[in-house]
Amino acid sequence: MKKIIVLALLSIFYTITFAQKFEGLALTPPMGWNSWNNFGCNVDEKLIRAIADSMITSGMKSAGYQYVVIDDCWHGERDSLGFIHPNKERFPSGMKALGDYIHSKGLKFGIYSCAGNKTCGGHPGSRGYEYQDALTYAQWGVDFLKYDWCNTAGINAPAAYATMRDALFATGRPIVFSLCEWGENKPWEWAKDVGHLWRTTGDITHCFDCQEDHGTWSSWGIMKTLEMRKDIRRFAGPGHWNDPDMMEVGNGMSVQEDRAHFSLWSIVAAPLIAGNDIRTMSKETKEILTNSDVIAVDQDSLGVQGFRYSNDGDVEVWIKPLSRGDWAVCFLNRSEKSVKFEFDWSKHNIYDDLSKTSIDNKIIYQVRDLWKHKSIGDTKKKIVTDISSHDVLMVRLVK
Ligand code: GLA
Repeated sequence: MKKIIVLALLSIFYTITFAQKFEGLALTPPMGWNSWNNFGCNVDEKLIRAIADSMITSGMKSAGYQYVVIDDCWHGERDSLGFIHPNKERFPSGMKALGDYIHSKGLKFGIYSCAGNKTCGGHPGSRGYEYQDALTYAQWGVDFLKYDWCNTAGINAPAAYATMRDALFATGRPIVFSLCEWGENKPWEWAKDVGHLWRTTGDITHCFDCQEDHGTWSSWGIMKTLEMRKDIRRFAGPGHWNDPDMMEVGNGMSVQEDRAHFSLWSIVAAPLIAGNDIRTMSKETKEILTNSDVIAVDQDSLGVQGFRYSNDGDVEVWIKPLSRGDWAVCFLNRSEKSVKFEFDWSKHNIYDDLSKTSIDNKIIYQVRDLWKHKSIGDTKKKIVTDISSHDVLMVRLVK
């Protein structure tokens, strides 16, 4: 009995002393840019520097985007001591210089690795090199690590991710840890103390509601991605977020679809990681990605993930409770045609059993249209509007 108590105390001591992630790094969902969705393996230091420049000139940084993340394929080989180096042709100045450049712009530097022997793109993974790689990233000035799950047959996911969490912590450098395990081992159930965000689904693609079959795996459109996981909103909160994948805004969908995508990502408190070419983005794309009213919904300090309130008919109603008693409400037209839509606030008693708050129909809220950036009255008045196909009306109820 005594032995068991001593062992239990030791394990609690170990957990408190050693097994930690850096706290306070992602109190709101991380915002940034990642190379994968648009550039795939075509990454080099010229591109990343130009993206860092554009983060400033396009207004992305001012809107809140911070992390510049190089995804797969930056790698060269390990040296005889096992240290990883970037590809020499594509990153001739080295990663420390690139990190310094990103930091000189007031931005943060993100990188990618994988829990398996090889990354999904076939480059050296971190398995067996976790501490060495974490140290190398810290020396390069890395602030964010996305950690993938390819080539991991037979590996235990919670243990593999905890190893890298501990390795990052041991460096002493605060590094946001982004788990990319596609939801296969239900990270929302175990990763709260491991990482700051965890992918909930397989890879996203730039279509509204499609599934792209790649043989052994599929990538998923916006609506499919959003609907794939049910009942996991309670696992998200400040410091630990459900991640439905990086955004496809500006990568080929219609303006309406991009607007719906961005609105819904904000309703579900998703990390806002842009995945387009911000150097050449259109005015419409820029307006979507930098919409401060919608970003404020995503970044709200209450940190409660929103939910779908109703889906009868063509228009779905998505809702997110916000700080100070405000609410975000997003009316989404999923159909292929434009619809005339009415919503009478007095007929709805909306209660959220996660935040234990309700849109009180005895209170009159001001209603602000978050895409038109103006007030459209108050909740005494019904909403009567046309919503185009795959578009949204998104409002904030202000108490
Ligand atoms: C996986 C991830 C993607 C991307 C690629 C890179 O598919 O889910 O987000 O990082 O690997 O190879």
